Amino acid sequence: MIPVVGELIRQHPGTISLGQGVVHYSPPPQAIEAMQKFFADPQNHKYKPVQGIPELLELIEAKLRQENGIALNRENAALVTAGGNMAFINALLAVADVGDEIILQLPYYFNHEMAITMAGCKAVCVPTDAQYQPDPQAIAAAITPRTRAVITISPNNPTGAVYREQTLREINALCKRAGVYHIHDEAYEYFVYGGRSHFSPASIPGSAAHTISLYSLSKAYGFASWRIGFMVFPAHLLTAVKKIQDTILICPPVICQHAAAGAMRAGSEFCRPKVHALGEVRELVKDELLKLNDRLVTPQAEGAFYFLPRVQSKLTPMEIVEQLVKEFGVAVIPGSTFGIQDCTIRVAYGALSKETVAEGMGRLVRGLKSIVN
Ligand SMILES: Cc1ncc(COP(=O)(O)O)c(C=O)c1O
Repeated sequence: MIPVVGELIRQHPGTISLGQGVVHYSPPPQAIEAMQKFFADPQNHKYKPVQGIPELLELIEAKLRQENGIALNRENAALVTAGGNMAFINALLAVADVGDEIILQLPYYFNHEMAITMAGCKAVCVPTDAQYQPDPQAIAAAITPRTRAVITISPNNPTGAVYREQTLREINALCKRAGVYHIHDEAYEYFVYGGRSHFSPASIPGSAAHTISLYSLSKAYGFASWRIGFMVFPAHLLTAVKKIQDTILICPPVICQHAAAGAMRAGSEFCRPKVHALGEVRELVKDELLKLNDRLVTPQAEGAFYFLPRVQSKLTPMEIVEQLVKEFGVAVIPGSTFGIQDCTIRVAYGALSKETVAEGMGRLVRGLKSIVN
């Protein structure tokens, strides 16, 4: 769906995209400077360790300890990947066989669903509540003898929901009881607003043997094209994960790992002001969506950079998106992309600055007022 909407945008030049899940800023200068270290040593042109270069792994270890309350020890391991999506496929291939079931929350992140299908597994989709919060009881009821893992994402794409710590604790505990893995995607960990805080289930004592945490530099550090992420997983999966990564990638691009080390040395101090500024953009987007509250219901979204409003319309989400692009010059993503039947549209504001948001949201409001009666 993303390429389909991308093509629509290309056919209608001047369209403002509220579709893309990217941030508007570039990596910190430290990332670019760190690449000099790569060029300084000709050995860097050779293959490097499957798990990641030691310098980056050390920075990851310190970050996990300080920010996520996750200690690396004999029970778990960390590995650098070529982005969060690759961390997910590594995890999936390590824990599941063909025919196994993987539980996703609806709406799902489409690349998770596609990876599950491509691995020959079955995505079992569990509905979330009216605020897009997961329902531990419904998850427990969906577990069968073929279930290998429960997937959660918080802050969430596509809903912007930040899952409650208590809920994540319940899901993690039920995974432990059921003998399945809890795979938690934290790509948007820094993107929380309005006093909410981020919680990592892998920080729960006794969770190391069944919890897999996925991270990405794409959003936090404006690093989408550099393809660097990382994962933390039970030590007993280390051999399997290394075999998978060695087969698919051998090692994450070493020049990008050096850049990532530079970015992580700049650290969350670089990210926080950016997220703060995005929080102001989010307020503007929220205010504009409120103007449409006779046509839209917008559930709480205290994280990531998305809203997924429900549209009161008999049109399909794709019909709405087409009209918005063709007649109003603004693009959003149809909610059907994320596996739900309700008429919803995903509004992404990460790529907007305060200067561009007014024009983009103005077009969206005018468009929806006209299209949705
Ligand atoms: C929930 C989630 N996980 C992972 C990714 C992919 O991240 P990466 O660029 O690190 O592969 C995205 C990108 O949109 C995402 O929304």
